[in-house]
Amino acid sequence: MTTAGIDAVEIRTGNLKLDLAETFAPEKDEDPAKYTKGLGLHASSFPDAYEDIVTMGANAAKRLMDRKGLEPEDIGRIDVATESAFDHSKPVSTYIAGCLEDVYDDDFHHANKGERKFACVAGTQAIDDAVNWIQAGKNRGRAALVIATDTALYARGDSGEATQGAGAVAMLIDEDPDLVSVDPVQGFGSADETDFLKPNQQFPSVDGKRSMQVYLARMREAMMDVESQRDLHPDDFAVVPFHIPFPGMVRKGAALGFRHISRGTDVEEELAEEIGMQPRLEDFEDEEAYRDALSAYTDDLTETDRYREWYDKTVEPTLGISRYVGNWYTGSVHLARASALREARSNGRNLDEQKLLVCSYGSGAQAEIHVETVQPGWEEEIAALNVEEQLRDRYDLTFEEYEQIHDVHNYDESTDIDAFTTPEEEFVFDGWGRMGERKYTYVE
Ligand code: CAA
Repeated sequence: MTTAGIDAVEIRTGNLKLDLAETFAPEKDEDPAKYTKGLGLHASSFPDAYEDIVTMGANAAKRLMDRKGLEPEDIGRIDVATESAFDHSKPVSTYIAGCLEDVYDDDFHHANKGERKFACVAGTQAIDDAVNWIQAGKNRGRAALVIATDTALYARGDSGEATQGAGAVAMLIDEDPDLVSVDPVQGFGSADETDFLKPNQQFPSVDGKRSMQVYLARMREAMMDVESQRDLHPDDFAVVPFHIPFPGMVRKGAALGFRHISRGTDVEEELAEEIGMQPRLEDFEDEEAYRDALSAYTDDLTETDRYREWYDKTVEPTLGISRYVGNWYTGSVHLARASALREARSNGRNLDEQKLLVCSYGSGAQAEIHVETVQPGWEEEIAALNVEEQLRDRYDLTFEEYEQIHDVHNYDESTDIDAFTTPEEEFVFDGWGRMGERKYTYVE
């Protein structure tokens, strides 16, 4: 079978920043540590008045195409994953292709375009689709552009407000990829859930606490589905990127994952002296008692050196970027992968041919877990990212300015303010067309 996967990645953050500890917490009369330590977030990224899912996606895609020396002719497929689409019919990929056609000589008329929706897991599903397209031999030598782009905004005062974020991740999916190949093994956990949804509304209805339980339940199912195909062991994976609604959620997901995949292995035996063996259902009278014992075991597990070392090496490095940008919904798990590879590169850690266990999740709800193999070209690809500059150059909002920009992006408000930043060499939102479509232009 043809080897296919992610050949290149580009990250584009919104141009504004809200500092959670310094700016948000005091207004909410909350301890800043709730955000920085509890949720694990320092800042959120926001789109300026001229930014949206199209500009962020197109800007990421353009940088990727320029860097790889690609022309529209080289791209056979453009899939956008988003849960922030503003058009119920015309896919965001057509808007992004339209932007790109303004700056390249040729067009994308030959490219199959679409939009993938399943909350945050849609970005991973779009990668799967592109890999399948290549491995089915339908790509005629062309690559696919997958763009995960979202403005993850919540209604003001919603419990999710602190986890907001905005940004895009563009990925080139190709044969013989330079970054990671996608292995055939994948597992799913999927159920009809009403934990987080947007029925004909811009901002989500969220059952915050329940959404966390649903995340863990679906992850567990997906892990079992993978285990039905291959054995899992904590030491098999160099990095375990999770979907990151906020880093505190990943802390819980990682503990569940480690407990699950160390069950019945030498790691469980090794830890038994310190915290006992894992509880087994058959040793309990009812399921509730078993669940309580499992939860107590997990708490003890997270205190062990064995777990902490594993977490610090395989999970913590995935959180580096998210802590400063918040939730990017469809892009979050792809930020997690990039973040870990970036940190490995700066620490001189060799990841050639190492395995990643990628744990994606979307509310509503579905988890997908699959395995990737890091390719020898990964360091060069990761070195090309300019994330530091982007994070550093963001405009730091006051709380009043945050309120204004939230209103600018709220469809129910008609706030019009001057942008906080000056666009430079980027696509910008440029008003409305005669049929209500959004219009864009490239600013030199
Ligand atoms: N110092 C240190 N930690 C503190 C603290 C302090 N002063 N104050 C609070 N904390 C801790 C709390 O103990 C808690 O940690 P634990 O869960 O480990 O106990 C953490 O900070 C958060 O505090 P709260 O639970 O009190 O926070 P909250 O109720 O205000 O909000 C939330 C939490 C419900 C998750 C909310 O952020 C939310 O609704 N988020 C949106 C939904 C979401 O992200 N769900 C995640 C799963 S769904 C998904 O993954 C899809 C997606 O992208 C949305």
